[in-house]
Amino acid sequence: MTIGVRVKTIAVMTGGGDCPGLNAVIRAVTKTAISKYGITVWGIEDGYLGLIEKRLRPLSYSDVSHILSIGGTILGSNNTTNPFKYPVRNKKGEVKFNDVSDDCVETLAEKEIDALICIGGDGTMTSAAAFAKKGLVVIGVPKTIDNDLWGTDVTFGFDTAVNTAVEAIDKLRTTASSHHRVMIVEVMGRYAGWIALYSGVASGADVILIPEIPYRIEKICQFVEKRNSWGKSYSIIVVAEGAKAVGGKMVIQKKLAFSPDPIRLGGIANKLAGQIEQITKLETRAVTLGYIQRGGTPTPRDRILATSFGYTALELLVSGVKNRLVVMKDGKLSSVPLSQVAGKIRTVPKNYPLIKAARAVNTCFGD
Ligand code: F6P
Repeated sequence: MTIGVRVKTIAVMTGGGDCPGLNAVIRAVTKTAISKYGITVWGIEDGYLGLIEKRLRPLSYSDVSHILSIGGTILGSNNTTNPFKYPVRNKKGEVKFNDVSDDCVETLAEKEIDALICIGGDGTMTSAAAFAKKGLVVIGVPKTIDNDLWGTDVTFGFDTAVNTAVEAIDKLRTTASSHHRVMIVEVMGRYAGWIALYSGVASGADVILIPEIPYRIEKICQFVEKRNSWGKSYSIIVVAEGAKAVGGKMVIQKKLAFSPDPIRLGGIANKLAGQIEQITKLETRAVTLGYIQRGGTPTPRDRILATSFGYTALELLVSGVKNRLVVMKDGKLSSVPLSQVAGKIRTVPKNYPLIKAARAVNTCFGD
C-alpha cells in the first residue's frame, strides 16, 4: 500500500457523466498539491479518452481559481471509453477492440507522472482498479448524481441532483393540482433508486417507484383512484428511470454500440402515463427531468464534500497510500481498496430507513 517514493507530479482526470462538484474536486486536488506540497499537476482532458489521445495540459493554481461553484468539469469528461477495450476501425470498416492501457501508462511515464487521481463513478473506478493492477499509483474520488458507487455512503453531485429534482417537482405540483392531473416525473439514477427516493420524499410525492421495489400497475392505479375518492384531485408520481414492473424489464431508450456500459435507460414515465390514463381515465402527463439533474451550480453540501474528497485524495497520496477510493463512511472520511469497488454498484436496500418513513406517511411504492 505504501508508495515509498516522494510524489512530485500527478495527473487528475474526470470520467463518466458530468456532475456538479467535479470542478470543486479538481480545485481542491490542484490547490492542495501546489500550495501544500509543491507537486506539479497535469489535467487529462475528456477522461480516459484524453489519456489515450495524449491530451494532457498542466494545471496551475490560477487555472483552478474561481471554479468551485461552476458545474461541469473544466477538463471535460467522457463516458464511452474503456482503455482496456478500445474500439479501433480497420480499413474495411470493421471494429476491433484493443487493449491500449500500456500506451496510457507510457504516456504518464513520459511526463514523469507518479500518480493518477481519477474522479468518477463505477465505470471509471473499474478501469482505475485495472490500471492499479498494472502498477500505476491511483487514487479514486467518488462522483455521480446516481449515488450508486459501492464503498461510500454518498457521492458528490447527488445532493445537487436531488435539489434540482425537488425544485422541479414542486413546480410541477402547480399544474397537477390546477388541472387535477396525475403528473409523472422521471428522474435519473440508472439501476439505483436513490434520486427518486430522496427527491420523492423531499417533495412529498404520492407514489415513488424505484428499481429495487418492482411495482404492480394495478396498485398504483388503485392508490391514485383512492386519493381522488378522498378529494385529492391530483397525484404526483416520481419514477426512477430504472423502475420496472414485477416480472417486467427496465425501459431502454437506446444502446450505445461501443460504450463500456452501453445501456441508456429512459421512457418509463411515458409508458406509465399511457397505462395509468387508460386504466383510471384520469388525465395523466409525463415529464422527464433528464440532464438538468446533472447541470448547474453544486449545492454547498456538494462543494464541501467535493473539497473534502479532493483534499483527502492528496493527503492519502503523500502519506504513501495508493490504489484506494476516498469514501465517506458513517460520517467519516476514509478509503477502501479500488479492487473492492470495481464492477459493483450500491442500490437502495429494501429495508432502508427512509423507505420505512415514506411508507409511514402513506407514500405508495407500487408494491
Ligand atoms: O450516471 C449518470 C447518468 O446521468 C445516469 O443517471 C443516466 O442513466 C446516465 O448517466 C445517462 O448517460 P448519458 O450521459 O450517456 O446519456
